[in-house]
Amino acid sequence: MAYLQVRNATKTFAGGMTALRGVSLDVRRGEFFTLLGPSGCGKTTLLRAIAGFNPLTSGTIAVDGTDLTSVPPHKRDIGMVFQDYAVFPHLSVFDNVAFGLKPRKVPAAEVARRVPEALEAVRLAALADRLPAAMSGGQQQRIGLARAMVINPRLLLMDEPLSNLDAKLRIELREEIRDIQQKVGIATIYVTHDQEEALAISDRICVMSNGHVEQVGSPEAIYGDPQTLFVARFVGTLNELERGQALTDLLRRLELDRADGPGINWAIRPEDMRLVPPGGAREAGAATLEGTVSKCTYLGREAHLHLRTDAGDLIVHVVNPSRVAIPAAGTNVAVALLRGALMGFDAEGRRVAASGAA
Ligand SMILES: Nc1ncnc2c1ncn2[C@@H]1O[C@H](COP(=O)(O)OP(=O)(O)OP(=O)(O)O)[C@@H](O)[C@H]1O
Ligand SMILES: [Mg+2]
Repeated sequence: MAYLQVRNATKTFAGGMTALRGVSLDVRRGEFFTLLGPSGCGKTTLLRAIAGFNPLTSGTIAVDGTDLTSVPPHKRDIGMVFQDYAVFPHLSVFDNVAFGLKPRKVPAAEVARRVPEALEAVRLAALADRLPAAMSGGQQQRIGLARAMVINPRLLLMDEPLSNLDAKLRIELREEIRDIQQKVGIATIYVTHDQEEALAISDRICVMSNGHVEQVGSPEAIYGDPQTLFVARFVGTLNELERGQALTDLLRRLELDRADGPGINWAIRPEDMRLVPPGGAREAGAATLEGTVSKCTYLGREAHLHLRTDAGDLIVHVVNPSRVAIPAAGTNVAVALLRGALMGFDAEGRRVAASGAA
């Protein structure tokens, strides 16, 4: 059985705003589980409901087989880390972390043992006596993490803990959070709207939109095998092909025409297309589309080529552009598209089986 079970969670706020519309999900023991979705999709509302800060309108939440509905927040044994660091400026790092143990009436000797342990885990042991004011955002957020973990929670909830940090620190700290989580083995629900962050640290990702779950899966499944158009658009860059004769021909050449139909949207990732010499040899399972380069953005490790084709404007990623010749704007080029890389979505945005013609 799942460690955390959320079943049919709905939440309508007093003003009539519905933030959760029947959310069901399972989190496994020890899993790093990420809620990913655009602003306002209900991530924080769900996290706060799990922590007990705002009760659901309907639905249930259970941890390790115990229904939490009537358990008050301080008895849920859930650690939470927030976006703002929420450290007390007048308390030392040690006391900030010990604060988490106060309402639990932990004996002094145990506080003296557990706080240094938690500080050790987040690599702040040497700074235990310092006041947080003189510390960096990354260090302050690690105090928050130590305070959440010192209670030995059954579940760790983190709501965009890195969003106030600069890009470089965010990458460092996300690796650190992942390492600590692995070492402690605690089931963690992590909220972010940064797709790269979600892909980098999660065992599984739950993509949400407008108060419901779009898809739950491994980072590879979410990025490489999105089940809805929303997921495909939200995670990564998506080229959506325009309907017309060029697309019809392309689908026929890829033997995907039987999976096509009115209202089907076809799309492909920028890295799933390859520049090929125009009129060059055909590859099995691939078809080419001709176009003109309208713009090229050089980004160091890759370049993004903007192409104008008869099937719409496309972005193609070229890896290591310092080592390969990149066609200039105005050049006529051809790109090869692999059959397996083309994704179709029906009018409701659900993925259609491309194997229809296989
Ligand atoms: N206390 C509240 N009263 C009324 N509406 C609320 C309340 N809290 C949140 N909402 C609304 O519920 C919806 C979901 O909000 P929520 O904070 O869960 O989104 P989120 O996914 O965490 O977004 P963000 O990425 O911006 O943090 C939003 O439309 C929000 O305005
Ligand atoms: Mg939020």
